[in-house]
Amino acid sequence: MDIMQREILFPRDEIQRRVRELAAQISNDYSGHELIVIGVLKGAFIFMADLIRALSIPCRVDFVRIASYGGGQESGGRTVLTKDIETSIRGRDILVVEDIIDSGLTLTYLVDWLKERNPQSLKVCAFLDKRRRRKVSFEADYVGFTIDDGFVIGYGLDFNEQARFLPEVYIIKQQ
Ligand code: PRP
Repeated sequence: MDIMQREILFPRDEIQRRVRELAAQISNDYSGHELIVIGVLKGAFIFMADLIRALSIPCRVDFVRIASYGGGQESGGRTVLTKDIETSIRGRDILVVEDIIDSGLTLTYLVDWLKERNPQSLKVCAFLDKRRRRKVSFEADYVGFTIDDGFVIGYGLDFNEQARFLPEVYIIKQQ
């Protein structure tokens, strides 16, 4: 795969507009509450930074890191938590933020893990949702864009750790 062979899927202004919409919806839904926003490293860090700065409610932030083994570029291998949160979430309102949902395995595992800590509520916000690629059924509560199959990079999403910094989302053209 050649990351230079790419075309824009979502330009900056479209991303900004959608992130503002999501933030307005979340702020409205949690009006009067303080959220704990948990980002899934590494991919979610850029979306999460933009999203929380567009919220009109207070929030605290924390992060988890999840590795999935055995899947190669295809997700769907064994899922392991390699960095846990450092905040108590018992009785709190939790919003998990992801860059992309693909097979659904990462978030299924993470949501189960976090629910064992007895939060008051737990919802998921994903920037991108590749719905057709699910291996397990998983529905996010907030989705930026639903996309078809294809390899996407930029706005936090990488190919071999490259291209996370790109401010737009690109799809790689497959030869
Ligand atoms: C990507 C993405 C999600 C996961 C989604 O992470 O950030 O966490 O895969 O795939 P799934 O729905 O099939 O489980 P990746 O393992 O590429 O790590 P990264 O966030 O560090 O890029």
